[in-house]
Amino acid sequence: MTTARSTTGDRSRPYKVVIPAAGLGTRFLPATKAIPKELLPIVDTPALQYIVEEAVDAGLNEVLVIVGRGKEAIIDHFDRAPELEAALEKKGDDDRLEAVRRSAELADVHYIRQGAPRGLGHAVACAAPYVGDEVFAVMLGDDLIDARDALLKPMLEVQQQLGGCVVALMEVPEDQVSMYGCAAVEEAPGITVSDDRALGGVVKVTDLVEKPGPEDAPSNLAIIGRYVLSPEIFEALEHTEPGRGGEVQLTDAMKDLAAQGVPMHGVVFRGRRYDTGDRGDYLRAVVRLAAERKDLGPPFVEWLGEFLEEIRADQSAKS
Ligand code: UTP
Repeated sequence: MTTARSTTGDRSRPYKVVIPAAGLGTRFLPATKAIPKELLPIVDTPALQYIVEEAVDAGLNEVLVIVGRGKEAIIDHFDRAPELEAALEKKGDDDRLEAVRRSAELADVHYIRQGAPRGLGHAVACAAPYVGDEVFAVMLGDDLIDARDALLKPMLEVQQQLGGCVVALMEVPEDQVSMYGCAAVEEAPGITVSDDRALGGVVKVTDLVEKPGPEDAPSNLAIIGRYVLSPEIFEALEHTEPGRGGEVQLTDAMKDLAAQGVPMHGVVFRGRRYDTGDRGDYLRAVVRLAAERKDLGPPFVEWLGEFLEEIRADQSAKS
């Protein structure tokens, strides 16, 4: 039910961020049997740390991570490591010491446990006591947005101008729409944000469909892992029935809010994004970020060139 409370958010302090990281990560088994997929390293830094860094870069440093069974390593990663720090200090290894301390000092990180992985919507609902009656951001724990391509900040700006909820959308090939939540949209002219270099515009969302078949997809705009949500979402989630696989879908609760007249907008992202829960995308993220690193990049790119030549020579020998 829509309530009288303001959805434009009176921003006297920064938004809280919720990062759901309690999923089973089945696409990445067996690696994720004992290791949370959100901690799989992108070169030498866990995916989840990039996401917390993105929140901090957007000016948000109050973070709630939704964890589940077997995800305790996430809590350790954002905590101090006194023995490791003492050993590095003793060796005078200042760079690694700084790297180890950085994750513990990055943000104010809190945790809530999702008793069972009952879907993204259920994970977000677990954050209600922490978030309270405020607009907040949701960042998926396995969805990496390149630090050079602004997304969250423009989304927050759109929410401040228009209220309600804002989702990140990305144009995907038609045969991939069924893997995502999909948005029906209308033009929303005249909305400006401070950095739109990685964006393809802002649209009004009129409907949302979770994982539609190609014939039911209202567009090729897929929902990706960044949301700015108004607190009405918690009430909508309470009334959202579990869908496929018994999971409570966040998309279904947002669809309800849109139908009730809560403003719903989409920011179309055209920048670099990696679904690190998907093996192919994970590999692309590792290779690209390693190639671009100042310390590792030059010899790695040289080797990559030689390796590609080898592969091509093998292929032409076989054909
Ligand atoms: P995904 O659907 O990508 O995660 O959810 P999953 O279920 O772990 O993936 P697969 O398909 O089995 O490989 C997106 C984000 O939402 C979190 C996940 O941890 C991931 O970061 N999530 C998902 C939860 O926190 N709780 C859930 O019940 C489901």
